[in-house]
Amino acid sequence: MNPYPAVDPIPLPAPIWLLKLLHIVTLALHFVAVEMLLGGLLIAVVLSLFRSSPQAMVTARAVARRLTVVMTFVINLAVPPLLFAQVLYGRALYTSSVLIGVYWISIIGLLMLTYWLLYRFTARLEAGKSAWWMGLTAWLLAGSIARLLSTNMTLMLRPEVWRQMYSSSALGAYLPTGDPTLTPRWLLMMAGGLFIGGLWLVYLAGRSTFTAEEKKFVAGLGGKIAAGFGVIYLLAGLWAASVQPEAVKAGLAGQAAYPLYKLAGFAGYGWLALVVVAVLVGAVAGLGKISAGWLGWVGAVVVVLTEIMFTVYRDGVRDLTLLSKGYDVWDRVVVTNWSVVGLFLVLFVAGLVVVGWLVSVVARANKVMEGAA
Ligand code: HEM
Repeated sequence: MNPYPAVDPIPLPAPIWLLKLLHIVTLALHFVAVEMLLGGLLIAVVLSLFRSSPQAMVTARAVARRLTVVMTFVINLAVPPLLFAQVLYGRALYTSSVLIGVYWISIIGLLMLTYWLLYRFTARLEAGKSAWWMGLTAWLLAGSIARLLSTNMTLMLRPEVWRQMYSSSALGAYLPTGDPTLTPRWLLMMAGGLFIGGLWLVYLAGRSTFTAEEKKFVAGLGGKIAAGFGVIYLLAGLWAASVQPEAVKAGLAGQAAYPLYKLAGFAGYGWLALVVVAVLVGAVAGLGKISAGWLGWVGAVVVVLTEIMFTVYRDGVRDLTLLSKGYDVWDRVVVTNWSVVGLFLVLFVAGLVVVGWLVSVVARANKVMEGAA
């Protein structure tokens, strides 16, 4: 018997390939912002402990000031992939969300608390007060949100445990156990935070209004963090890939009903190669304390490409796992409403133009020296 609910009340309003494309692009951007938040916050917390070091405090404040803005990107870039995921995988995702309902709904409260703590952390740093415990609490909460998201995104792939979970409690108050993919997947995201957070510092060193000495400090520190945690990120990725079911591995090698998923397998190799490039960028910046703008830009472009590759691979893992359990995401009734799709795309592009204009206004604005509290 197919374990997924058969109900699919309305047809999809746009081609599946278009929904998947938009899902992957927006989710990759969510991941860039998430990693900047997770890594940048922990780096700022650790630096804030060195209150007698002016360079550490300048860097901690510079990162903290930007984190509240990064959080707006985390949230705004989370809503589109959530909507696309629900459209494409609703029958799996709704079920798993209900099964962990208490935890799932708690994300809203955890998120508000994290956001508030971020503002408090930044304000205390600006005022020259001890702030590490506020930042650390925010980081632990953000890590818990990440854990709950990993839990739901893996539970949606395990219909075989749903009935037993529901029989144990219909309240949604229990978390699933026994999934070998959950912890490596979560660790991958957590290590990726410090990896990308380090590259973010390299970028800031090249762009911001630090003094020459501060630039060297920021680039040297960021590069070393990126290189070190890039290796851990890479190992966590290999671990997460190695614990996938055999059917998924075969599918990624192109041996499934859809040879298309070979592309996702290639994306996995692309991810690996890009992480190696990024580790080298980090090592060059870190060891040479190089704060050149172009190096920061190379790091930034590599990060975005890395997250796109990662998201394509991750999408392949999900589709192939679901396929092995009877859920074929391509097997859906589609009745495309082209006028609505066209209007959506026009507004989407207009939105991008407006965001580009806003970014250019910020770039042209008068800069305040980072050191000025
Ligand atoms: C501090 C805030 C947040 C953090 C740290 C965070 C972290 C993460 C992580 C680690 C994942 C990957 C999970 C995995 O597959 O293993 C993820 C995926 C996801 N996040 Fe976020 N997230 C945050 C906020 C949000 C919010 C507010 C929303 C919803 C409005 C959201 C929506 C999603 C969705 C829908 C996915 C998975 C999409 C998919 O697989 O199709 N996230 N997030």
